[in-house]
Amino acid sequence: MKRLHGKSALITGSARGIGRAFAEAYVREGARVAIADINMARARETAAEIGPSAYAVEMDVTQQGSIDAAIASVVTEAGGLDILVNNAALFDLAPIVEITRESYDRLFSINVSGTLFTMQAAAKQMIAQCRGGKIINMASQAGRRGEALVAVYCATKAAVISLTQSAGLDLIKHRINVNAIAPGVVDGEHWDGVDALFAKYENRPRGEKKRLVGAEVPYGRMGTAEDLTGMAIFLASAESDYVVSQTYNVDGGNWMS
Ligand SMILES: NC(=O)c1ccc[n+]([C@@H]2O[C@H](COP(=O)([O-])OP(=O)(O)OC[C@H]3O[C@@H](n4cnc5c(N)ncnc54)[C@H](O)[C@@H]3O)[C@@H](O)[C@H]2O)c1
Repeated sequence: MKRLHGKSALITGSARGIGRAFAEAYVREGARVAIADINMARARETAAEIGPSAYAVEMDVTQQGSIDAAIASVVTEAGGLDILVNNAALFDLAPIVEITRESYDRLFSINVSGTLFTMQAAAKQMIAQCRGGKIINMASQAGRRGEALVAVYCATKAAVISLTQSAGLDLIKHRINVNAIAPGVVDGEHWDGVDALFAKYENRPRGEKKRLVGAEVPYGRMGTAEDLTGMAIFLASAESDYVVSQTYNVDGGNWMS
C-alpha cells in the first residue's frame, strides 16, 4: 500500500530543487500534488514532467490573497488539503555592516511570514475538514546556529524552528502534526547561487566553497534533494502521527541536537 494513497498535498516553491524532489516522491507514494510556486512557467513544466498526479498552482507566499487563492484552488482540484510543505525560501548573505533593510524584509517576508501565514491558511482548511493533516516546514542547519556572513537567513530559519514548535503544540488537538526538516548543504541550483555569493564575499574562485562544505560533511559529500525524501514522506504519512513539534536534522551528520 502506498503511504500517501489518496492524499492531497501542496508544496510551496516546488517548481525546482528540494520541493520538486518531494513532489515526485509524494506522487510515487500515491498523493496528488500542487506544484505551488511564484515561477508559474517553471511550475507548469515541472508538473507536466512529473505526470497527471501533479498540477501547477500560482502562489506567492508573501501575499495573503495569493496564499488563500492557492489553498482554494487545491481544494477545488483535489477535494481538500491533507499535507502542506512550507518549502519556498530565499537565501542571501552579507557581513553585518552591509546587511540592507531590503534584504532583511524580503527574507523574513518569504521565509518567516510566508511560512506562518501559509501554515495558518492550511490549518484553517484542515480544521474545517475534520480529518487532521500534516504540515512540514523547511528549516535548515542555519537555524541551529549563527554564521558570520549569514545572520539574516540563519535568523529566519531559527524562527521557522520556533514557529514549528508553537504551531505543533497548538494544532495537535486537531490531529494536525506540525514538524520540520533541517537539511545541511544540498546540491542544486540554490547552492550554485549560495556558492556565487560566498565567492564574492570570501574572495574565492567559483565552486570552491561548494567543494569545501561538501568535504566537511561527516557523510563525505553534499546532500541531494533525494536524500531528504524519506523524511518528507515519513512526516507526511500516518507513521508520524505521534511526532509533534520536532525539527529533524537530515544533513549527513553536520549537526547534532
Ligand atoms: N539547498 C540547501 O542547501 C538547503 C539547505 C538547508 C535548507 N534548505 C531549505 O530547503 C528549501 C528548498 O531549498 P532549495 O534548495 O530547493 O531552494 P530553491 O531556491 O532551489 O527553490 C526555491 C523555490 O521557491 C520558489 N519561490 C521563491 N520565492 C517564492 C515565493 N514568494 N512564493 C512561492 N515560491 C517562491 C522559487 O521560485 C523556487 O522554485 C528552502 O526552504 C531552503 O531554505 C535548503
